[in-house]
Amino acid sequence: YLNYDVSRERRYILQVLFNGLRRLEYRGYDSAGISIDSSAVSVHSPSHSPLVFRQEGNIESLVKSVYEEVSATDLNLEESFSVHAGIAHTRWATHGEPAPRNSHPQSSGAGNDFLVVHNGVITNYEVLKQSLLRHGYTFESETDTEVIPKLAKFVFDKANEGGDQTVTFSEVVLEVMRHLEGAYALIFKSRHYPNELIACKRGSPLLLGVKEFAQEHNNGTSYNDMKFISKNGHPKELFLSSDPHALVEHTKKVLVIEDGEVVDIKDGGVTIMKFDHGKGKDEKSLSRPASVQRALSILEMEVEQINKGKYEHYMQKEIHEQPESLTTSMRGRLIRGGSSKKKSVLLGGLKDHLKTIRRSRRIVFIGCGTSYNAALAARPILEELSDIPVMMEIASDLLDRQAPVYRDDTIIFVSQSGETADTLNALEYARENGALCVGITNTVGSAIARNTHCGVHINAGSEIGVASTKAYTSQIVVLAMVALAIGADTVSTKQRREGIIESLLNLPGKIREVLKLDEQMKDLARSLISEQSLVMFGRGYNYATALEGALKVKEVALMHSEGILAGEMKHGLLALVDENLPIVVITTRDQCFSKQQSVIQQLKAKRSTDSYVYRRRCSNLPLQLLAYHLTVLRGYNVDQPRNLAKSVTTE
Ligand code: F6R
Repeated sequence: YLNYDVSRERRYILQVLFNGLRRLEYRGYDSAGISIDSSAVSVHSPSHSPLVFRQEGNIESLVKSVYEEVSATDLNLEESFSVHAGIAHTRWATHGEPAPRNSHPQSSGAGNDFLVVHNGVITNYEVLKQSLLRHGYTFESETDTEVIPKLAKFVFDKANEGGDQTVTFSEVVLEVMRHLEGAYALIFKSRHYPNELIACKRGSPLLLGVKEFAQEHNNGTSYNDMKFISKNGHPKELFLSSDPHALVEHTKKVLVIEDGEVVDIKDGGVTIMKFDHGKGKDEKSLSRPASVQRALSILEMEVEQINKGKYEHYMQKEIHEQPESLTTSMRGRLIRGGSSKKKSVLLGGLKDHLKTIRRSRRIVFIGCGTSYNAALAARPILEELSDIPVMMEIASDLLDRQAPVYRDDTIIFVSQSGETADTLNALEYARENGALCVGITNTVGSAIARNTHCGVHINAGSEIGVASTKAYTSQIVVLAMVALAIGADTVSTKQRREGIIESLLNLPGKIREVLKLDEQMKDLARSLISEQSLVMFGRGYNYATALEGALKVKEVALMHSEGILAGEMKHGLLALVDENLPIVVITTRDQCFSKQQSVIQQLKAKRSTDSYVYRRRCSNLPLQLLAYHLTVLRGYNVDQPRNLAKSVTTE
């Protein structure tokens, strides 16, 4: 966060950074840290050293510890800054236990010459660490990140061996980047370059937000206009974040930073350079950084979307807003009407590729967790309407097997965040093998959205609860629309397609009805509260429902749960069934209905009590409600389940 030409009290600056962290807490929350500018030389900041606070636990623990420290010292919250650069970070441990020393900002050592916050993983950190150790550096943390500020100090000291400080901050960072392997979005702060921040990225997302753009210089097209604002005395604040949720309450004007770009913010101006490994020459040599120009984007996100509104939890809010999120997912894409009452589907992001998709040898779905389950739910409809074989692949498993992928495959990548590392790696692999890659994500500008050949945004709105709910249903609906679009030229399925379109358009209304089961699901949750395990049986379309229902119960209610394909029951699981095992059988009025009735009879024969059965058309929602209530009743954190984070950006 940077402010220029606008006097801000330290209290305000802290609040901006803390609020930003609160908005990101859903992505990871085991420790946090912050660095703000000190004033001129004071007892707290010999030689302008930035102040650093780091704390284990959630954001509120950090906030508390900062204010405690402030009141224990004479640090003045009313002190004003007309230029200020602060950084903050909430951490989700990949290397090293949650502890202040492992929190970010990571430091180059005493004096905080260089401070770094990092989202991602540095894969060659061991090599770098050994080399820095040989140069006399000592390490305080077990993080991969700590090598970065230390390397920056090494580069800086080496460049200034002669005496005068001639090396610029961005030159230091460019040299550091040259040595880093892995995925990262980084922000650097340094006592040698006060009031300046440098950010760079490769693989992990990064956004620059611009607030209070001067009217006369805002033609809305290029970040270059920003350079002149502070000189004209216009107030301005700039934000860098890995996630738009931290920006939207300040500004909707953003620049999406691309891989290899280095953002230098100094004196109210922004310079962006492109970092490229030299091609054709020594792999590690740099091509000359070129200045970059690109249009600003407008975030399509409302502040209300990131608040809980009348609900107690985000997961609860997101379950209940599904009539609206599904309506948005379908808006402008399903067309009903005209005098001919013709019904059709229009997916702008796919239309130029439909011919190629129809000629594919096979269609392969790739995803992880809930997104995989959504694809599994959509598979039958895609097989039916496309008449092309549809395969399912869990992203990590495809990579482990290095499974064959062909040039005439269409691969559909399903990911809410659009940033999941396994799915991204599978995308890279599929592209290398020449397949047509289609992205289905909820995040405009995400890595998967950018790196696929074509795709569809699910438009479900922000999903903040770590457990995916509304994105799941929007993914299924969007994939059903993809199936309709692929099958759109087949005359024999016209009536069937029109029936599906009609049902999709009626879905939000049906969901409103199903949400009325809330109390019933709460009662059911009450009866299950002390169980050890919960088994869910589904088949056909509802096999995915069983897997997804069980995943929700596992991840938020922390209860063992398994989704079983009912056709497999007699091949093993039946051995576990006795009067103590709670079972959910999912059965809807579809072609599997009578088979599921027979499953119920067989289960009843092995048990003295009834299975829990419900019959509604929208089968997943009641299970979301069940998982939600079970979690709250069992006293667990429903929005931030143990050990889980929203975006899994590491393998
Ligand atoms: C479960 C859940 C996860 C994600 C998975 C993939 O509720 O949210 O299983 O579905 O981590 O994430 P995305 O969809 O962002 O690729």
